[in-house]
Amino acid sequence: MRAKATKARAAQGMERRAQRLLAGVADQRGTDRVARLRFPVPAPCGKTPLTGADLSKSYGSLEVFAGVDAAVDRGARIVVLGLNGAGKTTLLRLLAGLEQPDTGQVMPGHGLRLGYYAQEHETLDTSRSVLDNMRSAAPDLPEAEVRRILGSFLFSGDAVDKPAAVLSGGEKTRLALALLVVSGANVLLLDEPTNNLDPASRAEILTALRRYKGAIVLVTHDEGAVEALQPQRVILLPDGVEDSWSEGLSDLVALA
Ligand SMILES: Nc1ncnc2c1ncn2[C@@H]1O[C@H](COP(=O)(O)OP(=O)(O)OP(=O)(O)O)[C@@H](O)[C@H]1O
Ligand SMILES: [Mg+2]
Repeated sequence: MRAKATKARAAQGMERRAQRLLAGVADQRGTDRVARLRFPVPAPCGKTPLTGADLSKSYGSLEVFAGVDAAVDRGARIVVLGLNGAGKTTLLRLLAGLEQPDTGQVMPGHGLRLGYYAQEHETLDTSRSVLDNMRSAAPDLPEAEVRRILGSFLFSGDAVDKPAAVLSGGEKTRLALALLVVSGANVLLLDEPTNNLDPASRAEILTALRRYKGAIVLVTHDEGAVEALQPQRVILLPDGVEDSWSEGLSDLVALA
C-alpha cells in the first residue's frame, strides 16, 4: 500500500508497528537461551530410600527442633515450611548426613542416591573452576557431554574456567543445579532452589520440579514452587509436625 498516496501514511504506521512487534519477539527468543533443565532420571531404589526418625538438634542452649520424623518414600513430594531460623536448613543437613542429630537417626534405604542443593551453595568447591566442579560430580561423563550440559546452564566458552568463588548468586545457583542434573539422584533435598534466579530460569526449575520422577524434599518460601511440586506431605518447623498436604496450607508458604 505504500505506493498509493492515500494509503501511504497508514501503511507506514502499520510497518512501524510490525517492526515494534518483531522486536518484542526477538527479545523473547533471547530468553529461550535459559537452561532447558531436566533433573536426572532417578536411579532405582527401594520403597523408602531415606528415613529420619525422632530427630533433634540443638546448638548450645538453643534447641532448634526435637522429635522430628521424616519418611521419604520413593517418588515422595514433601515440603518443609517454617519461619526464618525455624530449622529447615538444619533438617536438610541432617537428612543429607552433613551433620549428626543429637537424638534419633537418619537411615539410608536400599539404593539411595542423594542430591543436595544447599541454600548457601556450600556444596560448591569455590576454589575450583566451574568445569572442575562438574568433573568431580560426574567423573565418568565424557568431557563433551559435561560441556554441553554446562552450556545449557549458560556457561560457555571461557566461563567454564572461572573459579566458582567469583560467580554471581544466580550463576552459583545454576552451577549447583547442573551438578544435581548429572548426579542420578533419586532423592533431592532442595533448600530454596528458586532464590536468586531471574524469572525465566525460575520457570525452568519449576518445570523440572514438576517432571522429576524421584523423591523431593523441598524447603521454600515460593508459592509457585509449592504449586509445581504438588506436595503430598508437609513438615512444619520448629514443631516438627508431619502431615498430609492440604491446599489450605498454601497461604502459609509465603508467610513462613
Ligand atoms: N552451626 C550452627 N551453630 C549455631 N547455631 C546454628 C548453627 N546452624 C544453625 N544455627 C541456628 O539454628 C537455627 C536454625 O537455623 P536454620 O538455618 O536451620 O534455619 P532455616 O529455617 O533454614 O532459616 P531460613 O529460612 O532463614 O533459611 C537458627 O537460629 C540458626 O542461627
Ligand atoms: Mg535455611
